[in-house]
Amino acid sequence: MMEYSVGVIGLGFVGLSHAVSLASAGYRVIGVDIDREKLGAIERGMPPFKEPGIDEVLRNTIGRSLIVSSRYEDLKEANIVFIAVNAPTTDKGQDLSQLESALDGLARAWRGLNDYRLVAIKSTVLPGTTRSLYKRFKMLSNMPRVGFASNPEFLREGRALEDIRNPSRVVIGGVDAESSEVLSGFWRDYYKRVGVDPPILVVEAEEAEMIKYASNVFLAMRVSFANTIARICEETPRCDALNVLYGAGLDPRIGVDYLKPGPGYGGSCLPKDTRALIHYADMHSIPVPLIRAVEETNRIQLERIIAILEEELGGIEGRVITILGAAFKAGTDDVRESRSIYLARELIRRGARVRLHDPLALDNARRLLGDIVEYHRDIDSALRSSDAVVIMTEWHHYKNIDWSKLKPGTLVVDYRRVTDPVSLEKMGIRVRAVGLSRKK
Ligand code: UDX
Repeated sequence: MMEYSVGVIGLGFVGLSHAVSLASAGYRVIGVDIDREKLGAIERGMPPFKEPGIDEVLRNTIGRSLIVSSRYEDLKEANIVFIAVNAPTTDKGQDLSQLESALDGLARAWRGLNDYRLVAIKSTVLPGTTRSLYKRFKMLSNMPRVGFASNPEFLREGRALEDIRNPSRVVIGGVDAESSEVLSGFWRDYYKRVGVDPPILVVEAEEAEMIKYASNVFLAMRVSFANTIARICEETPRCDALNVLYGAGLDPRIGVDYLKPGPGYGGSCLPKDTRALIHYADMHSIPVPLIRAVEETNRIQLERIIAILEEELGGIEGRVITILGAAFKAGTDDVRESRSIYLARELIRRGARVRLHDPLALDNARRLLGDIVEYHRDIDSALRSSDAVVIMTEWHHYKNIDWSKLKPGTLVVDYRRVTDPVSLEKMGIRVRAVGLSRKK
């Protein structure tokens, strides 16, 4: 094709990670976002979220190959634009308002242009959405030759740049053959520049959209499966779910990765996408008991933690409970759908005094929880004279805690398996660990 001039609309986690990755590969990139505060931070070289390596790449590209703006008009010269705005799942289904307004802005900027341009949807949307957005865009932009494609994103928080640079696959679903061809051409060009050769899969737009849901719901299913086996192991003498799941996972048809029990899946994708696919199935009267069970299992995993605290402490009211970890997983400051946030709220509702520690995510947690909990930047102060400690995030900081400082008889509920229960018990600490049998 042409010389690429890239646009990215939506400079959140997915959009900004792409914008800096493409800019550092030598493309001219224009990033557009309507949030001026966010734009200001990005212009000063400060990403609005924590992600390994992103600060440096942003500083090297901003004002050079990467320009950011709040005006859609600035996308006039871009010939390939990625849309990476949120499409949240609400009670009524998927909320497409941010996508529609981004596309309307772009349609105005491109209105009536005759040369070939392409829009690639990175946002996770239900099957059929890309094609219907395309029809609307074509009408509004009045462009005779505009291409459109679904180009879903599989990157993990905490590994965003690495996952863009070296993905397991690139999925491209054009609304027509030319759109798929142009977008595959672009990604081939990028991967040539960075020197890797990932599989590029060209499918229908609806298939590309569905691949994203199939992937995330499968991952959610693995977590719920691991948590189910963990629960059964807890009631089975001498069983540790870590050994059991590893033994099962060695079968290459199963795999050992992504099979770790924990407090349940959280984050910005798995809970939202599981809910959205159930909604989609309901709309089409398709029974999906499996997916409902995945969600239900995630919900009861949290109830289980509360039941353990109730049982071991003889009631939660008035107890001092320390939650270690607010982020939905280690390596990020993201607290969206974090099980910790739900746990904190429920413990407060039951009358506990809750302390929260996290090495990165306390500011974000405070935005959700306000002043109902105490925030501790120091682990020792968070633990001092607590009745119980619940480990909710697998931060490496929690592996080297000097547990002997805890008062004897303190309860440690390890839902990430970062402690060594045997040595803790020797110190007189009571331990309940996810997946570990108490029956000797
Ligand atoms: C996920 C998908 O992995 C990614 O491909 C997609 O693009 C976006 O959603 P992310 O939200 O960053 O990425 O988190 P992920 O690492 O997948 O973890 C999701 C949740 O599952 C976390 O709460 C994590 O703690 C939990 N989890 C994961 C487990 O409890 N056990 C596991 O073995 C793996």
